[in-house]
Parts: sequence; C-alpha cells; structure tokens
Amino acid sequence: MSNLIVLGAQWGDEGKGKIVDLLSEKFDAVARYQGGHNAGHTVFIGEKKFILKLIPSGILRPGVLAVIGNGVVIDPAALLQEISGLESAGIDVKSQLRISNRAHVIFPFHRTIEKISEGRANRIAIGTTSRGIGPCYEDKIARRGIRIADLVDVDFQSLYCALAEDKQLIADAFQITERVDFSEILETYKQFAEQIRPMTCDTAHLLNTAIREGKSVLFEGAQGTMLDIDFGTYPFVTSSSAAAGGACTGTGVAPTKIDGIIGVSKAYITRVGAGPFPSEDVTELGERIRIAGNEFGSVTGRPRRCGWFDVPLLRYTGEVNGFDSLVITKLDVLDELETIPVCVAYEVDGKTMTQMPASTRRMESIKPIFERLPGWNRPTRGITKIEDLPTEARQYLEFLEEKTGIEVGSVSNGPERNETMFVPGSKLERLLS
Ligand code: IMP
Repeated sequence: MSNLIVLGAQWGDEGKGKIVDLLSEKFDAVARYQGGHNAGHTVFIGEKKFILKLIPSGILRPGVLAVIGNGVVIDPAALLQEISGLESAGIDVKSQLRISNRAHVIFPFHRTIEKISEGRANRIAIGTTSRGIGPCYEDKIARRGIRIADLVDVDFQSLYCALAEDKQLIADAFQITERVDFSEILETYKQFAEQIRPMTCDTAHLLNTAIREGKSVLFEGAQGTMLDIDFGTYPFVTSSSAAAGGACTGTGVAPTKIDGIIGVSKAYITRVGAGPFPSEDVTELGERIRIAGNEFGSVTGRPRRCGWFDVPLLRYTGEVNGFDSLVITKLDVLDELETIPVCVAYEVDGKTMTQMPASTRRMESIKPIFERLPGWNRPTRGITKIEDLPTEARQYLEFLEEKTGIEVGSVSNGPERNETMFVPGSKLERLLS
C-alpha cells in the first residue's frame, strides 16, 4: 500500500473529512500535518454525525492510528473536549491517538491577541476563525512558542512565565487594557498536561518506523491550498502550510516516502471568510447552491460564499501540489441546474490569462470568463457507478478533467461513506490497491 497525501484543492471545506474517513480503512495510520481546531471535518456514519477539528478522521476506524503531527497547533482545551465527545460515542481514543511532542500549544491569550488584531479600526479583517491559530504560529516562527514536549515537562512553568512576560511587555507598551489572568492559565494548563502526557510521543519516529515496517500512512491536510500561507490568497489565508509540502514538514516524513497526492475539490467552489474569490456567485443562484449544499461553516456556522468551479485555480493548485488524481465532491448539489457555469479563464487588467496572479489587487480585479455546460437536471444520489451517471454529469466531469489536466479518480454524490464512486482503471485506484 502507498503513503498518500489527501488535501483540499480550493479554499477548504471540500469534503476531505469524508474522503479521508472512507480511505482510512485501507491505511494503518492517518496523520494531520497542519492547522488546528480552525478546521472542521464533518463525517456521517449512519445516523451519527461527527465534527472532527483536531483529531484525524482515522480515529473513527478501530485499529487505525490517528496522529497529530508537529505542524499542527493544539489548544489542549479543544483537544480534550473533542476526545471526550468521541469517547462518549464509544471510540477508544486514548489507544489510537498519538500527539507530536513537537506540536505547538495554543493559549487563551493567543485568542485575545487575534481578537484585538482582527477587530482594530481601519484593518481589513481576514475573517479568521478566532481560535488563536495565527498568533500561535507567530510565536512558533518567532522562536518563543511552547511545544507539547514543554507542556508535559518539569520546565513548563519557567517557559510559560517567560512567554507570559513577553506578552505582558507588549501589552503594556501598546497600552492594551484587556486583562489576561496568566496564573490561572498556568494552573489550568498544568492539569491539561497530565491528561495529554500519555498520548504524546515523537510522532515523526513513530510514523517513520511504521513506514519502515511496510505500513501505510494517509496524510490529511486541513483547510485548502488557497488558504496556504505561501500559495494561498495572501494575506487572506491561514497561517500554516496547507499545501502538499506541508505534509513532510508537518510530520517529519520525507518526500521520498510519499507515493501519491490526491486533491479534493467540490464540483463547484466555496470560501469562508474574506478575500478574493474570482468565480463567486453573489446572485440568487449562489444562494441556491448554499442551501442545496448546506454551505455553512462546521466550526463557526458562518454562511460560506459560493461560486463555480474555477479551472485556472485548479490548474494552479494542481501544479503546486502535484496532484495525481482529483476527488470531486458534492456533485449532487448541482443536480437541479439547467446549465452550470465553469470559470475557464481570467481577465485581469484587460488581458485574458489562465495563471494565478499573486497580488491581492490583481486577484480582486479578476473578471471571470465562464463557459456554460448543460446540467443534468435530475437526481444523482443513489447512483453507485460513474457509468450510470447522467450523460451531462459525465460530460461535466470530463470537461473538468480535460481543462485541469488532472484525472478525476473519484466522485462523491452524498455525505455517506457509501455515496462515493471510484473510476475504474484510474491512477487513484492503483494508488489505493
Ligand atoms: P484562521 O485559520 O482562523 O487564522 O483563519 C484564516 C482564514 O482561513 C479565514 O478566512 C478562515 O475562514 C479560513 N479557514 C480556516 N480554517 C478553515 C477551514 O477549515 N475551512 C475553511 N476555511 C478555513
């Protein structure tokens, strides 16, 4: 079996949770490599709905090792809450979950800093999830962050006090009046440490040992490529490396051990939060998609902005990630449309282009050029084979494949595990065999 990376090809919420959950039965371990509890993976198993934020979806498969890698930022309160929710559903989290001792820890003051920064006057807000993700990564890069290894160590108090002093100095210098009870946080985190300690280890060594023993690992991305700190619509991005490269730096598994990279993309496109979105549909049709696709954030409940499949965007994310295959999700959401617009090129500053501009100004000035494809106008739910899809649906998928230059290896037409079709003879099928 191969070691595969599965990640979002758009702005997150592509349905990775369901796909990772489905594929995880074929793997020995599933590893999250970046982000934190800003992510929300919704998985339906029969009547039960699970929203996983930090813990990889592999946890829902007995016997599969679920790993939170070093690239993830962890809010211990959120983690422990998620663990207890899963345990009350009968899942044996403690024996299946391993947490990297090199992952960084989120503290309540990271949220305070985010709130002050996002909320200040004259700032164009990013529309973050208010989970303290960005400020925690800032501390990591500034080399003053606290890692899980520190949290569970005897040295925690002194490291914590140094960080708290640092924050207090900045708050005083900038005359920030918001009060943070640093000593209460210290006591709470000491208790968190006791609960987390048994699940922590050097997960890079754990994963590499598993791979050496011939076991297979599925690397699970959070958010999506267009929210990647380097390749996304900067500054309207998250603070981590959501693109495929992040799987290696975020777990400590070398690129030479990766056998394939799978992009997950909706049959249309959505975005939560602010920032450029070339193929956004702000008309009544976009609203119809939001309702049909239940496009509301699983973490924040915010309505998602909706738009049409964007070929230049997919070509770009295909290139920076090296996608071997695409999984197209939520095809059924388009079932009732007479025609389906697809953005095939951009017009920027009067010129037609198919490449992704880097500057926000140019991104925001994009005029999308659409082609309209015939819809199929009938239900696709319940169909289990690609060849049984309506002709127009197959033509739509072929169009995406031809324009992006990436094979469509799988199509999902409903939220359940069994509402997923695989394309016979595809590269994806070979990678999974
Ligand atoms: P942050 O990750 O909370 O810093 O938010 C930065 C941007 O990423 C905002 O536009 C969020 O809406 C977006 N974002 C963060 N996590 C997710 C996710 O899991 N799905 C979709 N958008 C996300």
